[in-house]
Amino acid sequence: MVAPKALPALEKPIAITTILLLLSPSLALAWGEDGHKVVARIAEKHLTPKAKQAVARILGQETLSSVAVWADGVRRTNRYRWTAPLHFVNVAKGSAGYDAARDCPKSCVVQAIDAFASTLRNPNASAEKKEEALKFLVHFVGDLHQPLHAGHFEDRGGNRIRVKFFRRDTNLHRLWDSGMIKQRRGNRRWDTYANGLNSAITPNDERSWDGAPSDWATESYKLALSNAYQVGNGQLGQDYFAVNIGVVEEQLKKGGVRLAKLLNGIFG
Ligand code: ADE
Ligand code: ZN
Ligand code: ZN
Repeated sequence: MVAPKALPALEKPIAITTILLLLSPSLALAWGEDGHKVVARIAEKHLTPKAKQAVARILGQETLSSVAVWADGVRRTNRYRWTAPLHFVNVAKGSAGYDAARDCPKSCVVQAIDAFASTLRNPNASAEKKEEALKFLVHFVGDLHQPLHAGHFEDRGGNRIRVKFFRRDTNLHRLWDSGMIKQRRGNRRWDTYANGLNSAITPNDERSWDGAPSDWATESYKLALSNAYQVGNGQLGQDYFAVNIGVVEEQLKKGGVRLAKLLNGIFG
């Protein structure tokens, strides 16, 4: 028998990185790629001409949808490790809603949205800082509209709740990040799906979807309680999907419209 050949020097780190990526727990990822891109695409369609121009100047060749998942890619790097807790907020069990002093004493997704919006409004912030702020803002407005990104600490926003969805093993957080969206989208492209959702937004929807990020947190938390956490024995399928896909899609639409309103306000 020939001894297995050692990997060449260059391939080793690549192999190790691949293995680590394959093993990395779902704990980290947010609304899957689809959810973030859909929110960003809907926002793009609701920007004023002025805001569109400002966004283009900041992002150059990139667009809101092309940078929407960037924040998930950098959260494990040394440079951006500090941003990992900014993807969610945990709301105290038994409470009526989000309370900044109690649920976000230092940093969380609600505070992050306010902070990055301030950077975009700051005339003294550098072009690099503004680009970074816009990329985080697009992502975090999306995250906050996933109900389990404002869930309970005890189950890590549903990450620790094992469920089956149409007989496949997953966890509740993942199901709301991406599982139900994938089920609905089927073979359609994400942008086709986004366009369909956008067409269903009425002027009345646009008028009624406002509020501040702290309100969005309470709204998500209430949806987590009323819908996401209602898993019974954890064997989920058509019934759970039918009850909740409407909530998922309304949250995607709201996220897009509210992100656009926020940017329209910032860029006047
Ligand atoms: N991702 C990692 N930890 C989380 C938590 N506690 N809530 C929501 N999302 C998370
Ligand atoms: Zn998530
Ligand atoms: Zn995220």
